[in-house]
Amino acid sequence: MALVLPRVPVKGIWGSTSFATQARCLYYLTVNLNLLKLVRMLPFFSTFISGLGELVGRWLQEDLLNVKIDALSDGLVIFETGTSSHDVGKIRYLNNCFVLISKYGSTQLITDVSAAVGFLLRDKGIGGKLRQLGAIKGGSFKVIFSSENRTVSVDRDLLARLERLISGETGLRPVRFGAGREFWLITRHDGIVLFGLRITPLKKKTEEGELRLELANILCHLSGPGKSDVFLDPFCGSGSIFLERISSFPYKMAFAFDNNVEKIKILEKKVSWTKEKIKIRVGNALGLFDIEAGSVDKIITDPPWGHFQAVEDVDEFYRRMAKEFSRVLKSGGIAVILVAREIELDRFISEFKLLEKYQILVSGKKASIFKFLRA
Ligand SMILES: C[S@@+](CC[C@H](N)C(=O)[O-])C[C@H]1O[C@@H](n2cnc3c(N)ncnc32)[C@H](O)[C@@H]1O
Repeated sequence: MALVLPRVPVKGIWGSTSFATQARCLYYLTVNLNLLKLVRMLPFFSTFISGLGELVGRWLQEDLLNVKIDALSDGLVIFETGTSSHDVGKIRYLNNCFVLISKYGSTQLITDVSAAVGFLLRDKGIGGKLRQLGAIKGGSFKVIFSSENRTVSVDRDLLARLERLISGETGLRPVRFGAGREFWLITRHDGIVLFGLRITPLKKKTEEGELRLELANILCHLSGPGKSDVFLDPFCGSGSIFLERISSFPYKMAFAFDNNVEKIKILEKKVSWTKEKIKIRVGNALGLFDIEAGSVDKIITDPPWGHFQAVEDVDEFYRRMAKEFSRVLKSGGIAVILVAREIELDRFISEFKLLEKYQILVSGKKASIFKFLRA
């Protein structure tokens, strides 16, 4: 955008001009010179599903104020933004998000957690960084240590010294259970050590076969959700995608099907708070007789992979699924489908154009996300 300065006298602008001119001047200075950037920029880091760096980078740029991404690699993003930590903590496509207090490792490879604690305790600047978290005064905390995505324990003395340091600088009380705040010290295989204050609320444990909330959110987000969407999950299972779609994104009508009667009964109970604009039914995703041809805008789904649930002829199953999706989707409609990595879905979906494809890990198993456009 071109910078357009207001016509004001250069000398003594505040003394000799009218109130209206001063107001205009202040407005232009704020907007055009972007003084809004002086809003306090806080550093954050977050883990996310490995393989989705491109999406996470793109969405953070769209969702946050004045975002500057410092590092984006292998399931980790480090960034600064003027958006409040409260709002950053509410981003649902990130796994665990933290206010970044300290980062070590560029000059020294540290992979052992005890060594990392020692490094932290020797850091002369750490007191000041903890004090800067001023707003968190009062309440309790605990420290969690994580090495290569697994929580680990450290020597008691080291823990006690670290707790004394945090407590002394923040006024928080160390506890073992029911802590109000969590400080995390994370070591990674690449030698990076991160120390941060967790801002993501605790998430509920997932049931067997249920997708994690952040993955359900990513699949919905990827479909480009809109308020006029007729949305369908024909293999809804426990309903993680369906529930995420109706609680976090706008829609006109939402359908959920599964051939398992028990799962449908449980899902109906979960959405007893609303009967509007939703239909949950027992049904066969390979023959969705309740759904009119060309009536659906978005299909977002996680069909059986054949790992946990026997599928007799996987190729035939996916061929029939593709045919049915092609029937119910409008021209220009979108299908976002999560499958095991060995299922080459693009072979089965000839009426569709492949828009995007991502390779990820789900519960340690290789998986692919496909985004198709119905031509
Ligand atoms: C991978 S699971 C979906 C899990 C779901 N995303 C969740 O988070 O709970 C696949 C689901 O497809 C259902 N299913 C299998 N064959 C089906 C068919 N022909 N029609 C409809 N549902 C089917 C299974 O009962 C199962 O719940």
